[in-house]
Amino acid sequence: MTTISFDGRVAIVTGAGGGLGRAYALELARRGAAVVVNDIGGTVDGTGSSTRAADAVVDEIRAAGGDAVADYGSVADPEQAAQTVRTAIESFGSVDAVVSNAGILRDRSFGNMTLEEVNAVLDVHLRGAFHIALPAYGHMKEQGYGRFVFVSSNAGLLGNFGQANYGAAKMGLVGLSNVLAIEGAKYGIKSNVIAPVAATRMTEDLLGPFAERLAPELVAPMVAYLASDGCDVTHEVFSAGGGRFARFFVGVTRGWFSPERVEAEDIAAHLSEIRETDGFRILGSATEELQLLGSTLEGGTP
Ligand code: NAI
Repeated sequence: MTTISFDGRVAIVTGAGGGLGRAYALELARRGAAVVVNDIGGTVDGTGSSTRAADAVVDEIRAAGGDAVADYGSVADPEQAAQTVRTAIESFGSVDAVVSNAGILRDRSFGNMTLEEVNAVLDVHLRGAFHIALPAYGHMKEQGYGRFVFVSSNAGLLGNFGQANYGAAKMGLVGLSNVLAIEGAKYGIKSNVIAPVAATRMTEDLLGPFAERLAPELVAPMVAYLASDGCDVTHEVFSAGGGRFARFFVGVTRGWFSPERVEAEDIAAHLSEIRETDGFRILGSATEELQLLGSTLEGGTP
């Protein structure tokens, strides 16, 4: 088995002052990365702030002989996020990997959700990821190397009651990662997404009897792999939790093709062919779907 080392590499982990982010930061540092431990030190709903969370993780890393620096900026603030990236470069000379993990919850059924609750969640998860990725990508492009790991959720990939704001933000990260994977390929940049499941303060009371088997540390190996030099994949989404690792993907069915103009009634009549998942394909870009459509138009069959 090849050893995965982060010696000489610099990683930013956002929201690394507790829960899953802490586990990622500890694991990357244990493997030799110099880590920027970013955390605002707030509550689950995103209120309040404290330097204690990030400081405690930095202390833990240093006590174990690793290298880390604390950063208390909010990813929701573009200026503070730009400073987080500068901190990595000024402290350690580079940014090689970004784990975009910071997150909050403002759950409510959609009928009762306020715009404030929508914006607060989008600001941290989705805009926050952009705020870090934009300056980090520029640096990675110049150095010809980079790794992004965006933290999504099954609540976005699959949907979950009461989480329209969170689900939209988490699925938005998949779109961001897909494009960074495509655009970054020629610069040695890889981008992937993880949908973790772990017992943290965010999931307290949600995981039932399995909670004690869902330690955040069990997710960290997947993040470490995706953030490493040796990562062989890009443009993908992985589920990780409790020792189970799997791939999520978007596939397109073979579908149904009509060379003649169709009516809504024809859609109803052919719905089972349109939806049939046997023979589905996984496409690597929007261009690939256009090529597929082109060959369907040429060949007359889907
Ligand atoms: P957590 O609440 O322990 O960790 C989130 C961290 O982000 C906290 O330390 C918090 O202070 C920090 N944070 C919040 N707003 C921030 C901001 N504006 N700037 C910087 N840091 C900020 O929760 P957990 O479970 O560790 O969540 C980590 C990530 O994993 C989140 O993105 C969450 O949505 C995601 N996730 C967690 C799942 C789970 O099963 N625990 C399931 C799916 C996704």
